[in-house]
Amino acid sequence: MAGNSIGKEFTVTTFGESHGKIVGVVVDGCPAGLPLAEKDFQEELDRRIPAELKIVSARVEKDVAKILSGVFNGFTTGAPIALMVENKDTDSSDYEAIKDLPRPGHSDYPARVKYGGFNDYRGGGRFSGRVTVALIMAGTIAKKLLNRYDIDVLAYTQTIGNVKTDKKFSSQEIRKNKYAAAARCPDLACSEKMEEAIVNARKAGDSLGGIVDCISFNMPVGIGEPLFDALDADLAKALFAVPAVKGVEFGAGFRAAQLTGSENNDAFLLKNGKVVTSTENAGGILGGLSSGMPIMIRVAIKPTPSIAKEQKTVNLSTMQNAALSVKGRHDPCVVPKAVPAIEAAVAITLADHMIRSGFIPKVLKEH
Ligand SMILES: Cc1cc2nc3c(=O)[nH]c(=O)nc-3n(C[C@H](O)[C@H](O)[C@H](O)COP(=O)(O)O)c2cc1C
Repeated sequence: MAGNSIGKEFTVTTFGESHGKIVGVVVDGCPAGLPLAEKDFQEELDRRIPAELKIVSARVEKDVAKILSGVFNGFTTGAPIALMVENKDTDSSDYEAIKDLPRPGHSDYPARVKYGGFNDYRGGGRFSGRVTVALIMAGTIAKKLLNRYDIDVLAYTQTIGNVKTDKKFSSQEIRKNKYAAAARCPDLACSEKMEEAIVNARKAGDSLGGIVDCISFNMPVGIGEPLFDALDADLAKALFAVPAVKGVEFGAGFRAAQLTGSENNDAFLLKNGKVVTSTENAGGILGGLSSGMPIMIRVAIKPTPSIAKEQKTVNLSTMQNAALSVKGRHDPCVVPKAVPAIEAAVAITLADHMIRSGFIPKVLKEH
């Protein structure tokens, strides 16, 4: 299964399946001299699963990251960093019953055809949301690197089903509030309504999707390698590695198609001696290069495919039409858990490009 690595200088290779022994990642190209300890990963991993269990799957694992290589005396050495967490809370029984019944909306059918039935179908195998744990571990390193240059990558839930917030949040507000509520929306009253919507969808045997906004603050100007490694292109590629992501837009995104040039252009102005723009329709990227304005990304996430409501499928063993009601442990909405994965996908892409453009050196100076 090729296609499990991303990045040119800061490269990330993930491995592991939902019900296998471990989920892991190898990060190669991380500069030497970054302080790194297992506890750095814990906060990120702990925040992956909201404490309010009524809105997530009953599969709740205390993920503990282990550093296997690349760190010596508390600092990265410049060698590949291998990280892993064990899969502890696996229950494959529900998957045996439906192994010939591909779940509508999930990867089961094309994966079975592509890998000739050898793929690990338990819990979605390699296609499971569980694999985002690997991305989150790599993202933790990327964020630590970026933070040294005051770059902050912050994602939060903007919409769940029909419930959304139109508020604009400062970086402080996002940092303070996004993990305060289960739905991961910094508008706490809205987050509660989102939670309610998820609970109602679950009761109806159904699921919901939503939108995650991700803002990267303080990126320098000129990062990105057009044409093919344009910053927006590489960000989108990384984001589509998060399962259930169905759309990525920058700034005004699809709305820009309906604007006139004079409406869409972000006028430049000088503020405290710095070139800034008065609006943010470009989302902080022009010509595939960062413009120095916050990078504003909006990510559309589909509703969870595995639902209790009965749906039509085909029994691939008997080749008969069949009905399927998915049992077992599933997230009625994957959006809250996707928030840290989206931050991670953005952070690893920005870290890669910061190293490629020489902003981050191969050996870090004392900080
Ligand atoms: C954090 C996270 C958790 C997920 N949990 C589930 C789940 O419990 N049940 C499910 O059917 N899909 C879940 N998904 C979505 C599937 O993995 C995804 O829809 C599937 O692999 C098909 O890929 P696609 O939606 O990108 O086409 C989850 C995704 C993420 C990011």
